[in-house]
Amino acid sequence: MLSVAVLISGTGSNLRALLEAAADPDYPARIVVVGADRDAEGLAHAEQFGIPSFTVPYAQFDSREAWGAELDAQLKVWRPDLVVLSGLMRLLPASLVTEWSPRIINTHPAYLPEFPGAHGVRDALAAGVAQTGASVILVDNGVDTGPILAQERIPVLPDDDEHALHERIKPVERRLLIDVVRRVATGELDLGAAAAAGHATSAS
Ligand code: GRF
Repeated sequence: MLSVAVLISGTGSNLRALLEAAADPDYPARIVVVGADRDAEGLAHAEQFGIPSFTVPYAQFDSREAWGAELDAQLKVWRPDLVVLSGLMRLLPASLVTEWSPRIINTHPAYLPEFPGAHGVRDALAAGVAQTGASVILVDNGVDTGPILAQERIPVLPDDDEHALHERIKPVERRLLIDVVRRVATGELDLGAAAAAGHATSAS
């Protein structure tokens, strides 16, 4: 059974979907803890599912490194096999990424490498593209630059605003995330190999 820690900042709808998937005895992963960088609304989902949670408030630390060190310490208490960033709206310090890589993944509401960063949905709309997408990636030390593990295209509709488009992207993100975690758990997806292949690609 793969043990998973999920880090959030917001409403945690993707976290909730993963909690629901993991409640199925046939699903090969379990969420062992949920962490947040603020008093996130989504922590309520963890409570409802009886999953422990912790908060490491970014504002209470002098530097990103100090915050990351505490986050790392909290994660290590639970010894997860995999860390999932699910709407964590904060850049992690390089030391933490290095510590957990390649066992750390992220979801993104765009078809990477298109529209990386905090405003992937807004940026796709502003660019006037006909389609955007959803991605699940390995976390590296860039902003949404890690090797892609799964992604899918989603059309942009004429009447879309940021909220409407994001609400259509999120169910796809959830499905991709649940599937990636399942494949990691069954050994079908080898994150070490994905990292090595990704680095080979970016070096070529
Ligand atoms: C997702 O689209 C995630 O990729 C983005 O923020 C959203 C998280 O939403 N960075 P929620 O907190 O899971 O509802």
